[in-house]
Amino acid sequence: MRILVTGGAGFIGSNFIRYVFDKNMSCEIVNLDKLSYAGNLENLKDIEKNENYTFMKGDICDHKTVEKAIKGCDYVVNFAAESHVDRSIHGADEFIMSNVLGTNVLLEKARMNGVSKFIQISTDEVYGSIENGSFTEDSVLAPNSPYSASKAAAEHMCRAYFVTFGLPVVITRSSNNFGPYQYPEKFVALSITNLIEGKKIPLYGDGKNVRDWLYVEDNCDGIYFVLNKGAAGEVYNIAGGYEMMNIDMVHDIVRAAGGDRSMIEYVKDRLGHDRRYSLDDSKLRDMGWKPNHTFKEALDKTVKWYEDHRDWWMKIKHKDTYKKYYTKQYKGKD
Ligand code: NAD
Ligand code: DAU
Repeated sequence: MRILVTGGAGFIGSNFIRYVFDKNMSCEIVNLDKLSYAGNLENLKDIEKNENYTFMKGDICDHKTVEKAIKGCDYVVNFAAESHVDRSIHGADEFIMSNVLGTNVLLEKARMNGVSKFIQISTDEVYGSIENGSFTEDSVLAPNSPYSASKAAAEHMCRAYFVTFGLPVVITRSSNNFGPYQYPEKFVALSITNLIEGKKIPLYGDGKNVRDWLYVEDNCDGIYFVLNKGAAGEVYNIAGGYEMMNIDMVHDIVRAAGGDRSMIEYVKDRLGHDRRYSLDDSKLRDMGWKPNHTFKEALDKTVKWYEDHRDWWMKIKHKDTYKKYYTKQYKGKD
């Protein structure tokens, strides 16, 4: 079994590579990643000497690069994407390139090379916001941010390749992941690392937006389950089953990290901020999948990981590019 993992140097992709090698040591993995600001080879330090692992630096938008990377691969798991909603509000060009054009290049090369399964890693954000109830896989897509619109567009290309060419594409839509190796711009990683540094946690708007939280290892388990058991042309929601308001999430983080609620600071809201995400993942659960971690144990493990890996996130947070992003985010200029 040879898998092309794209975006494997990012948060979920690197956790997925580690997860797959833990499950199946004889599996071969090619990791194609362009090493954007979010890509970090330190996420895979313990894997890089594995003889079944190959890293290729390259862009999924580049036909020749993808052609080379995909040779001999039975499966493709496409994590590569621009993934941060706030950045997509500052400018969406890169999102269209990597998320839409990049997916298209991968689909075309997968078709030409006869891959057995193409897993597209998508998101609950493609459904948009829901006040009551939960989205099923049949719900209408109504993305609200440039990021989620680009992910929905990528999904439409996947569907087109399945219907037009019979490419065995399977889509996963997961909720908000948290866990080790998450770039510290995302809410949980930012909150934990800010607390450790004695900095305030910026909470958008009234703090009452609701997200469902999924431990990254459980998402990897769900993706691996879909890789083995998912049917071509199908979509699978993957949820943690822990829906909560951001303010409650921060209180839990403060509890787990032993901090103080005075460290929470209300800041200006995100434009177009989706109020609530909620997934019905009974389709996957009826097939026998469920998350292995409770929310509390996953959050405690995550906090401990950031406490034990200060070097990893300090290096990122002290880069000029990281500081420059926050100047733009809060002062609206480069
Ligand atoms: P991330 O930003 O941490 O990692 C993305 C990786 O993709 C990086 O290593 C980056 O270098 C690479 N990449 C970006 N553009 C590329 C390109 N053109 N060619 C090659 N590599 C490229 O993202 P993440 O949080 O790990 O998310 C991974 C995937 O999961 C994304 O597709 C995202 O939309 C989806 N997703 C994320 C979450 C979440 O909570 N983080 C939830 C649901 C779905
Ligand atoms: O739902 C899945 C999605 O989850 C993925 O598709 C995206 O790739 C991933 O980035 C994530 O998107 P969100 O926008 O939900 O995640 P983020 O961590 O940016 O924000 C989570 C919530 O916390 C959201 O309601 C906004 C809020 N927030 C975020 C940041 C960065 C704050 O209140 N303060 C912050 O500083």
